Amino acid sequence: MASRSTLPLEHMPGNSLVPCSSPSRGRNFACRSVSVRMHRVEALAAWISCRADHKNASVTQFNVPLLSGAQVMEELRAFELKRNKKPDSVAMYSSIFGGITTDLAAMVVPLDDHIVHRGHGVFDTAAIMDGYLYELDQHLDRFLRSASMAKINPPFYLSSIRNILIQTVSASKCSQGSLRYWLSAGPGDFNLSPSGCLQSSLYAIAYDAPIPEFLGARVITSSIPIKSPKFAIMKSVNYLPNALTKMEAEENGAFAGIWLDDEGYVAEGPNMNVAFVTGERELLMPQFEKILSGCTARRVLALAEKLVKEGTLAGIRIGKVTVQEGKMANEMMLIGSGIIVKPVLQWDEQLIGEGKEGPIAEALFNLILEDMRTGPPSVRVQVPY
Ligand SMILES: Cc1ncc(COP(=O)(O)O)c(C=O)c1O
Repeated sequence: MASRSTLPLEHMPGNSLVPCSSPSRGRNFACRSVSVRMHRVEALAAWISCRADHKNASVTQFNVPLLSGAQVMEELRAFELKRNKKPDSVAMYSSIFGGITTDLAAMVVPLDDHIVHRGHGVFDTAAIMDGYLYELDQHLDRFLRSASMAKINPPFYLSSIRNILIQTVSASKCSQGSLRYWLSAGPGDFNLSPSGCLQSSLYAIAYDAPIPEFLGARVITSSIPIKSPKFAIMKSVNYLPNALTKMEAEENGAFAGIWLDDEGYVAEGPNMNVAFVTGERELLMPQFEKILSGCTARRVLALAEKLVKEGTLAGIRIGKVTVQEGKMANEMMLIGSGIIVKPVLQWDEQLIGEGKEGPIAEALFNLILEDMRTGPPSVRVQVPY
């Protein structure tokens, strides 16, 4: 291991930290084009610097150690120790090693798995609330639908996958957090075709996460193109457009970007659905034909019936929503399992309603939270710890 200390490798300037250290971070909407230009300049500078570095470096300067498997594990453990934020409760399942581990350093995926180098994989999630999995079966339905669209034949039957996921949460000891799981074409080679893959693989991880708070946010219209319907309705691991949309929003001091569909109607956010409360007190949601069918959004639609019965809402409508209609709404909200219901106070330059958290969004947030804590067995699966 002595050779490690002589390793002269340096991190490329302006790598993934560029957006975080950007002076434009947190600026308001007026600075948007400046911010985008700044990023291009920084990225170009980083690239030029990297090229120059490459020209100056001779092969002998590099002294990359050749590590044994045991040494790799040692290094992986050292890396985990260096992390600032270590989860208290975490466990990972992998069909590659056929079991569950709570050792962070062992939570790895083979590089030749097609989910890694081809993005040939699908995923889904479920929230863990007070020791119960919320809407696990609804998420699992979508997971297997996505797998079928991605032509991935799961390595196990649904009942076994469900069992594995519950056991992973149990092993993590996490009672408040998130479960995430992936199906992949599997490891085998670095080709595009999965024909050389040994078998599809299943991975899952359960970890602590706080309950989202009810807090208003700003959104912008995304300049990143939305995925075509065939790919938008499937929860594949191709989230590059989603990540770029989120980054663009953050660069402009906003929480999320809003996608419009190919006809210019309101579609969804990068990991959430959207809904509105119209001037006629209707809950209005864009139809799901060209976007991801959100489990939380669908549950909101069911629970909102209560507000209709009470007379708080005049009705519920799913249909095409124009940008004008959205921006003129009394309330706008983002909906998803990671945020539950998040009120939108401003979209681009336009204040939504009075620019404050709205009462319907708050009522829906509370209804979902109550459902997570005390809902029927169809939406709550107890985890045996
Ligand atoms: C693109 C997209 N739309 C909507 C959602 C909301 O779906 P759910 O409520 O099932 O989390 C997600 C969730 O991650 C998403 O990625």
